[in-house]
Amino acid sequence: MTAWELLFEGFDPADEGRREALCVVGNGYFATRGAAPEAVADDVHYPGTYIAGCFNRVTSRIEGRDIENESMVNLPNWLMLTFRIDDGPWFALDSVDLLDHEQELDMERGLLLRRLRFRDSRHRTTRLVQRRFAHLGSPHLAALETTIVAEDWSGRLTFRSGIDGRVTNSGVARYQALNGRHLVEHHTEEVRPDTVLLHARTSQSGILVAEACRATVWRDGDVLEPTRSLVRHDDLIAQDVGVDLTPGGQTRLEKIVSLHTSRDLAATEPREEALGDLENAADFEELLTAHIMAWDQVWSRYRFGLSPDVDARQAVNLNLFHLAQTLSTHTADLDVGVPARGLHGEAYRGHVFWDELFVLPTITLRTPNLTRSLLLYRHRRLPQARLAARHAGLTGAMYPWQSGSNGREESQFVHLNPESGHWLRDNTHLQRHIGIAIAYNVWHYYQATGDEEFLSSYGAEMILEITRFFAALAEYDHGRDRYVIHGVVGPDEYHTGYPGTDRPGIDNHAYTNIMTAWLCRIAVEVVTAALPAERSTELTEALRLGHQEIDQWRSMSRKLFVPFHDDGVISQFEGYEHLAELDWDGYRRRYPDIRRLDRILEAEGKNPNDFQASKQADVLMLFYLLSAEELTTILGDLGYDFTGEQIPKNIDYYLRRTSHGSTLSSVVHAWVLARSHRARAVEFFDRAVVSDLHDAQKGTTQEGIHLAGMVGGVDLLQRCFAGIEVREGMLRLDPHWPAELGVLELTIRYHHQPVLIRVSGRTVTVRTAPGPRRPAIRCVCGPESVLLGPGETAHFSTKTTTDPGLKPTAAPADEL
Ligand code: BGC
Repeated sequence: MTAWELLFEGFDPADEGRREALCVVGNGYFATRGAAPEAVADDVHYPGTYIAGCFNRVTSRIEGRDIENESMVNLPNWLMLTFRIDDGPWFALDSVDLLDHEQELDMERGLLLRRLRFRDSRHRTTRLVQRRFAHLGSPHLAALETTIVAEDWSGRLTFRSGIDGRVTNSGVARYQALNGRHLVEHHTEEVRPDTVLLHARTSQSGILVAEACRATVWRDGDVLEPTRSLVRHDDLIAQDVGVDLTPGGQTRLEKIVSLHTSRDLAATEPREEALGDLENAADFEELLTAHIMAWDQVWSRYRFGLSPDVDARQAVNLNLFHLAQTLSTHTADLDVGVPARGLHGEAYRGHVFWDELFVLPTITLRTPNLTRSLLLYRHRRLPQARLAARHAGLTGAMYPWQSGSNGREESQFVHLNPESGHWLRDNTHLQRHIGIAIAYNVWHYYQATGDEEFLSSYGAEMILEITRFFAALAEYDHGRDRYVIHGVVGPDEYHTGYPGTDRPGIDNHAYTNIMTAWLCRIAVEVVTAALPAERSTELTEALRLGHQEIDQWRSMSRKLFVPFHDDGVISQFEGYEHLAELDWDGYRRRYPDIRRLDRILEAEGKNPNDFQASKQADVLMLFYLLSAEELTTILGDLGYDFTGEQIPKNIDYYLRRTSHGSTLSSVVHAWVLARSHRARAVEFFDRAVVSDLHDAQKGTTQEGIHLAGMVGGVDLLQRCFAGIEVREGMLRLDPHWPAELGVLELTIRYHHQPVLIRVSGRTVTVRTAPGPRRPAIRCVCGPESVLLGPGETAHFSTKTTTDPGLKPTAAPADEL
C-alpha cells in the first residue's frame, strides 16, 4: 500500500459507516458518501449527497415542544445502480456468496474503486469493478462506471441505473426523533432515451435541486444499443438497461451525472443547467483525464512530503484530500463557511462553528483567495449578527455559535444524551468566543497576505463590530476597578453554569476575557494605524464609532479581569478551583472510554458543572493562539504578573483535567507541548492526525469527518513543528522539528509565488520559484535573515528544541 491509497479489504458491515465517510468523493461544490451504489439507507449503509450551503429548516415535536432545526440537506442519491442476471434478484451484498470485496480510495487522483466477485444462488460467478469520482474541474459533474464480467455464465444482464429521491436526513442515530424530510415536490422525467432527471424543492428554503444522469453501455470501446425500459415514480426514476453476456464476456455502464441547484451562479434554472451539462459532457475516460489534472494542480499546492513514514503520510494525505474535497476553488464562488463535519455526513447538521480557526491557516498558505471567500461568508452575515446583539440588548455584532444559511443562531436548545436517553437543555450557544475567533481569522489573514483591500472593505468592519459587542457585553465592576464578563461558555463545553444554580453560563472565563483584551488592542490598531486614514474616517462615521468607545476599548485592554488560582495558574473561569476534583482513575477504570465524560456523568445522575473536568483545551487555547511574548504582554498590560515560566504549570494543571472529548483537543495539546515535551507533543500529533482514519471517537466519523481536527493535525507539521509563519512581510521559520518525523517538504504560496520549504531535524532549506517580475522575499530563521530573489535557495542549520539561537516567537512554551 502506498501513502496515496486507502484500501479496505473484505466487507465489514459494522465498519461500513466509517468507510463511507472516509471514501467520500467531493469537489467543494458537492460531496457524496462512499456508499455502495446498490444500497439504500439501512442499518449498514447510508448514501448521502450534500451540496455546500444547501440548507433547509423543518420543525419537530420533542417532549411537547416544537423545535426547528436547520440542516444541510441530503439530496437525491445519484449513485443508484444495481443489476440482475436474467430474472434473478437485484444484486445486494447480503444475498450472494461474496468471494472478494475490496475498495480503494486513490487520493492522488480523487478516484474511488470497488472490486468484487460473487457467486449467486444459481452458482454463477460474476466480477464487478466500479470507479467513481466527483469532478474536480467541472464541479457539477460526477461519474460512476460499472464493469461486469460474466465469468462462467451466459444470460441477460439488466442494469438499473437512476436517481433515488426517496432520501431523508436520517444519518445520525441521536437525531432519529427529529423530522428529516426536507425535499418536496419531486418530479421525474425521461428526457432523452439515455437521460433521466429528478427535480425537487427544499420544503422551507425553497431551493430547487435538479439531478440528471446519462447512462451508456459499452463493450470493448464500442457503445452498445441496449434495450431500455423506464422505472418511474414521483420520487425515483431509473432505466432498466439490458445486454446479453456470454462466459468471459464483459460490459461497462457509464453513468454521467449532473447536479444543480437554484443557488448556482451563472445559471438559469437547475433543470436546464443539468441537462445542458449532460448534453455536453464527454465520456467517462475523458472526464477522468481532466479530473486527474485538476487534482494534480491541487496537490501541487497542498502536498506535504513527509518521509519516510508511510502511515503518517497516508493520514496526512487523507486529511488534506478531504479538506480539498470540502473546500476547493469551487467553494470560493459559493456563499458558504467551513462545515465542522465536512460535506461527509449529517452530524451537527452541516453547521459552521469556530472550526475555521483550525482550518484557515493551511488554506491561507496555499489558496488565500479561498480563505478570503470563507471570511466573506461571515461578513455577509454581519447584519444578522448585529440583529442578534440588539435582541440581546447589546450593540455590535454577536455571531452565532452555530451558523447555517442566513447566520442566525442554529444551535440546538435541547440535545439528547444517548447514554441516558434524556433530552437536556443545551446552553453551549453561549460560546461568545466565536466572535473573537472570527476577528482573529480576519486579522491573521490580513497579516499573512497583506490584503489591505480586504481589511478595508470587509475585515475591519467585522473586527470593529465584534469588539463593540464585547465592549457591550463587559460590565465595569467598580469594586474591582475592572471589566468583567458574565454568563458565557468556553470551548470546554462541559461547564455551562455554576453548581446548584439555574443561571446559564459562567463568569470571567479566562480565555474569553484575555482574548477580548487582545481583540480590543487589535481593534484600536485597526482604526488608528492599519487602515488608511480616509477609510478609517469613513468606517468610524458609518459605524458611528466615537472616541469614547475607542477609549473604552483601550481601557478594557488594561482592565479586563482575569481569574487566577493562588499559585499562578490561570483559572478557567471564576470559581473553577472550588469545583470538586473528579476521580479520573476511577472513571478510567470503570469506563473504557471517558472522552464524553459529560454524558457519563449525566447518565450517573451527576452534573459536569460540578467538577474540574474539561472536554477540551480551554485555557490552553491561549497558548495555541498567542505567542508567549504576546500573552505576557497582554497580561502585563492588564496588570498581571505572568511570565513564560508559568506556562508549563498551566499546561500540566489542565492536561490532568481534560477528557479530550473533541478531536480539537489533541491538536491544541500537541501545539502547546511542542517546545517542552516533544515526545508527548508527537504523541498528540499522532493522535490528532489519525483521529478520523481510526475513528478515535468510536462511531462519530461515520456521521462526518472532523474537518478541523484533520486539518489542525496536519497544520501542526507546518506552523508548529516547522515553525512556518508569514507575518509583517516576512517568511519566518522557527523549527522545533522532531527528528522522528523524518523530513518534511512542502510548498506554500507567499505573496503569490510558490516557495518550497524542506525541514529536517538539522536543516531548513527555502527555495523560491524562478521567473521574472517576482519580488525578492525576506526570509528569517533564528538569528539569520536573508533576501531571496527568484529561483534562489537558502540553507539554514538548526538544532532541535534546545538551540539557544532559535527563540520561538509563534509558539508559547519555549521557556519550559
Ligand atoms: C467541539 C467544538 C467544535 C464542534 C464542531 C464540538 O464537539 O466542542 O469546539 O466547534 O464540535 O466541530
